[in-house]
Amino acid sequence: MTSLRRRTQLALAAFILIPVAVVLSNLGTEADEIRVAAVSNATSLLSEAPFDHSDRSNFMGARACIDCHRSEYVSWLNTAHYNNRANRFEGKETSIDTKYRAITGNTDLCYTCHSLPHEERFGRRFVESGTSCESCHGAAGSETGWLNLHAVYGPNVTRMEHETLEHRSMRISRCEEAGMVRSERQYLIAKNCFSCHIVGDTNLIQAGHKSSFDSFSLIPYLLGEVRHNFHQDQRQNAKAPTLLTARQGVSPVLRVRMYFVVEQLARMHVALTNIGRLPSEDDLDGAVADSMLDIVDDAAGQLEEFAEVLLEEENTEGEVLTEDQVAALIAAVDIFTEFDDLDEQTRAAATIAAQQVDLLATEFEQLHDGEKLSVLDVEFLEDLGDPVGEALKP
Ligand code: HEC
Ligand code: HEC
Ligand code: HEC
Ligand code: HEC
Repeated sequence: MTSLRRRTQLALAAFILIPVAVVLSNLGTEADEIRVAAVSNATSLLSEAPFDHSDRSNFMGARACIDCHRSEYVSWLNTAHYNNRANRFEGKETSIDTKYRAITGNTDLCYTCHSLPHEERFGRRFVESGTSCESCHGAAGSETGWLNLHAVYGPNVTRMEHETLEHRSMRISRCEEAGMVRSERQYLIAKNCFSCHIVGDTNLIQAGHKSSFDSFSLIPYLLGEVRHNFHQDQRQNAKAPTLLTARQGVSPVLRVRMYFVVEQLARMHVALTNIGRLPSEDDLDGAVADSMLDIVDDAAGQLEEFAEVLLEEENTEGEVLTEDQVAALIAAVDIFTEFDDLDEQTRAAATIAAQQVDLLATEFEQLHDGEKLSVLDVEFLEDLGDPVGEALKP
């Protein structure tokens, strides 16, 4: 563990060196307006969570992004997400896919996580690509899809530099309404990762699929091979400022602090949703329910620790938060406490609890941008795992 920690510290040093104060002083009214527009939108985005990756109709595929996001595309080619073509699972006798097919008659579900949805053409199966841009940023296609709105800056051929503030905040709202998952939406991003990285389908588990992956830890992954913040500087990645840093002063350090908290809320949400989706009430004392409850338990435990530390009298920055400012965390822990004993619960109760976690997360994101959470990186940064994989350096 010690050597893991040391390496993590080195890797994270790059982020911590960015002086938060300098970044914060750039916060302008522009940023505030965008943030307000974004926040007022939050509820509509939360309604259909966790993500339904099974709707095939509106996926464009990564090629729709390549003209404008070449470096992001290249970095994606270097990730396990690109390489995980679902075709390779087909046909082996003892494989999860054969066992799953024996239970359900097909393997459509596999494709919802292991690839962009596939197409049947001429009786053959074509898998467009692996887990792709739109698996994480939301399906972009169709006439009303976000791709049509995404790079339009005003009437006629208004250039990006000439876009008005008003137009930008409208564009962002409309993209989000059309299902775009943007960098700002940290809880949404986290929830989306866990909607694939926590598996709660009973048939899949019965076929031998894992339900959760002990090695999955959000922040190290985002700092590692998944990282692709090239927009400000095509030749740097991990060390380059992101769009959000440039526009809103949200430095990577602040983002990491927010991720600490929203990651745990997202895990809780996805695991509770999975409990709510079990095929019957009987499954509540089965293995899937147990492993989902373990996840909720673990996440609640983390949140409890965060709450304690945030409410402590003294921390290095002299920052003490009020109970109100930490209320969302405490309430999430309470939800778990109610859920501790699954026997007394129903699936409907789990679904409601999942929705409550959504609301708490929204509340927390509205109240915080990471500034007041410095004690989290003081206390918990060391416990983070290594970044997973290398961030691409072109
Ligand atoms: C016509 C060019 C163009 C295309 C095509 C395009 N983008 Fe973009 N994208 C941009 C530009 C320019 C920006 C940065 C400026 C902005 O929109 O605010 C951007 C920003 C983004 C952002 C960050 C936005 C934010 O507010 O956090 C994401 C995510 C993104 N694009 C994803 C995609 C994906 C995924 C695709 C393909 C489905 C795609 N883009 C296709 C031009 C494009
Ligand atoms: C809810 C999303 C989800 C679904 C549905 C799903 N998987 Fe997976 N699967 C994952 C994730 C996430 C991983 C690996 C994550 C990691 O390694 O950290 C994985 C890993 C695997 C692995 C191990 C990969 C390796 O290289 O070792 C196999 C094999 C696999 N899945 C097969 C299947 C098959 C077959 C189906 C359909 C019957 C399926 N999966 C459905 C999410 C899913
Ligand atoms: C649509 C489903 C889906 C989403 C969304 C998703 N993943 Fe994955 N991810 C997978 C699957 C499936 C694999 C397994 C790839 C394989 O080995 O076949 C995987 C593998 C990975 C790996 C490689 C794991 C390893 O063992 O090397 C990383 C890193 C990763 N995911 C991080 C993330 C992060 C971070 C997010 C959110 C920003 C995310 N993923 C969102 C489906 C998804
Ligand atoms: C595994 C999930 C995942 C996949 C796949 C993915 N992204 Fe992203 N993307 C993210 C996350 C998460 C962020 C926010 C950055 C962060 O929190 O580290 C982001 C940020 C971005 C940004 C803003 C970067 C900046 O400089 O601020 C752009 C542009 C973008 N993605 C485009 C793409 C394109 C194009 C693809 C496909 C080639 C793609 N993404 C694939 C998860 C993903």
